[in-house]
Amino acid sequence: MRTQVVIIGAGPSGLLLSQLLHLSGVDCVVLERRSPDYVLSRIRAGVLEQGMVEMLKRAGVADRMHKEGLPHDGFAISVGETRLRIDLKGLTGGKRVMVYGQTEVTKDLMDAHVARDAQVVYEAENVTPLDFDGDSPRVTYEKDGVTHEIACDFICGCDGFHGVSRAAVPEGAITEYEKVYPFGWLGILSYVKPVDHELIYANHANGFALASMRSHTLSRYYIQVPAGTDVNKWTDDAIWDELKIRLGEEAAAKIETGPSIEKSVAPLRSFVAEPLRFGRMMLAGDAGHIVPPTGAKGLNLAASDIHYLSTALIEYYGEKSSAGIDNYSQHALARIWKAERFSWWMTTLLHQFPELGAFNARMQQAEMDYLASSHAAQVSLAENYVGLPF
Ligand code: APR
Ligand code: PHB
Repeated sequence: MRTQVVIIGAGPSGLLLSQLLHLSGVDCVVLERRSPDYVLSRIRAGVLEQGMVEMLKRAGVADRMHKEGLPHDGFAISVGETRLRIDLKGLTGGKRVMVYGQTEVTKDLMDAHVARDAQVVYEAENVTPLDFDGDSPRVTYEKDGVTHEIACDFICGCDGFHGVSRAAVPEGAITEYEKVYPFGWLGILSYVKPVDHELIYANHANGFALASMRSHTLSRYYIQVPAGTDVNKWTDDAIWDELKIRLGEEAAAKIETGPSIEKSVAPLRSFVAEPLRFGRMMLAGDAGHIVPPTGAKGLNLAASDIHYLSTALIEYYGEKSSAGIDNYSQHALARIWKAERFSWWMTTLLHQFPELGAFNARMQQAEMDYLASSHAAQVSLAENYVGLPF
């Protein structure tokens, strides 16, 4: 079998790329290790930048998001009993973000693929990218015990942090930068009314907490926990009690509690691989980089990679120019490093780092005081949160 582009991974990166290529007449096949239900069962991010919202519109998958998504004009940072509202709209000349779950984005993309009978192979085993350092790359995989081979022009590794694409690159050809934080986020999803109409990021002496949401009736909360925490050690009641402490009295008085429908611990990590192109294979999304979730940048960064990558591939086939492919890595990484910086900064500002001592705690306080008193500091935070241009 032959196609123009093989995409490995049917997460948001892979499906968005496939959708945009299809709309420009570029042929592709998507190979995904898991089943559609498994992919949709993963509870991930929930805040979309305006640039990503525009991309979903261009991809023709924005109708439900516009009906069900919640546009947010700001969010709050709470430290102890003090709350600071970041007026995203006012500080950025009218920009806002859209609260709409990654699961829903993925579902909308999957539905669009089904509607056009796109070539997505789920439960593809042993997917292997081959010969991408030459002119004739190919990908092999197994399905129902039969081995298949697809010859192609390009391979796009959209297979997440643990995928096979980055792992297939020879060691000497790639540099990896990594910072692992000594804590994780314990997340809880529950059918209760959100505590506030906007998100609340809290830094409390007990640790970070976040009050987020998926809809007016579905809430998502997180608390900072030590790395390696066993989720089963936390009962729902214990999580709600801790949230009441960390989010402050005003929130504690209003918070609605209920049974969890999902509970998990995610580690926090900053990671970048350089470069993102290896001959005829390009990496995009979590396959190439990870940010800690504090700045809500992971999914949005995947979308900006796909913007650069889809434009490059469409230009290659439409204008017979490889300039976009040649520049993909450099273009994408310039924006990635800025989002890495912002996510690291938000993480550093809002979490407890007892191992870094009293000086670090004072620096955090000074940073918060500066943010509360400086319009310029708030503009900087807001322009990063709504998303840098791409
Ligand atoms: N073969 C085929 N598919 C694979 C393989 C493999 N060897 N390894 C992983 N995959 C699939 C996974 O099952 C998953 O469906 O690749 C997909 C990768 O999806 P994500 O991990 O969601 O990554 P991505 O699409 O880049 O999404 C952006 O940014 O911060 C995050 O929460 C955000 O998950 C989101 C991500
Ligand atoms: C979420 O709702 O899952 C969420 C929101 C904002 C973040 C991180 C996660 O910064």
